[in-house]
Amino acid sequence: MNFCCRLLMVQSMVLWTLLYSGIVGAQNVDATIKICAACHGDDGNSQAPGIPKLAGRDPNYIVRELKDFSAGKRKSDIMAPVIAGVDPNQFKDLAVYFGKQVPSSDKITDPKAAANGKKVYLDGDEEKGLPACAGCHEPSGAGNSRFPRLAGQHKEYLVSQLNKFKSDFHTNDSARLMRETTKRMSDAQINDVSEYLSGL
Ligand code: HEC
Ligand code: HEC
Repeated sequence: MNFCCRLLMVQSMVLWTLLYSGIVGAQNVDATIKICAACHGDDGNSQAPGIPKLAGRDPNYIVRELKDFSAGKRKSDIMAPVIAGVDPNQFKDLAVYFGKQVPSSDKITDPKAAANGKKVYLDGDEEKGLPACAGCHEPSGAGNSRFPRLAGQHKEYLVSQLNKFKSDFHTNDSARLMRETTKRMSDAQINDVSEYLSGL
């Protein structure tokens, strides 16, 4: 085989690989969504209280968390092995799919705790130097691309995340924003604000 022929062959192989991975990649996003949906729900509203709802979350936030799981910057024994099997080129499509789903709310079971939690959420606690959550996460809890949506999230998941920041288990919050915030919170405040948010 002369040089010219070999070059053509290599070129067509490269082209084929690109085309093939493009097609396979496109099919895989749907397959990957099914894997995620097994835990997070088809409509992004997980039924399990310890697994977060993704519906209505800003896609930029979802991509950031997926990158953090993938790089080991956000520790999770459950998400780490899952994300290790996902092509990072799919992160954006996954985030857009789950982000555009309609978020649901949970039922408040302790109205008194929710009322206390509402005060913490909107006003913070001046004595403890606790800033109002609403200042970052929006008064409605809807969040934005920098600060995640909290409205309607499962209470159990919220309590666990707040404790993971408080104990420095999570270290992927830029400028320690959540680590500093949660260190100023009592267990009761963590419980009450989570009760309030789950019902929004
Ligand atoms: C076996 C169950 C399971 C599967 C499958 C799974 N997840 Fe998760 N996911 C979890 C759990 C549990 C957490 C909470 C981790 C923690 O404690 O920080 C989580 C957290 C997340 C978060 C962070 C949410 C937030 O509010 O900060 C995102 C984003 C996410 N998963 C996306 C995905 C995507 C995309 C897929 C599919 C590629 C997927 N997950 C597959 C269980 C799962
Ligand atoms: C100064 C801004 C700021 C304030 C004030 C703040 N947060 Fe956050 N919060 C953040 C940022 C930034 C993140 C995202 C960290 C990351 O990138 O994973 C976050 C993440 C969270 C998460 C994790 C969400 C998830 O889906 O896993 C919870 C829960 C949370 N905040 C609750 C609260 C509560 C409750 C308060 C009030 C007591 C509060 N935050 C106050 C900036 C703030």
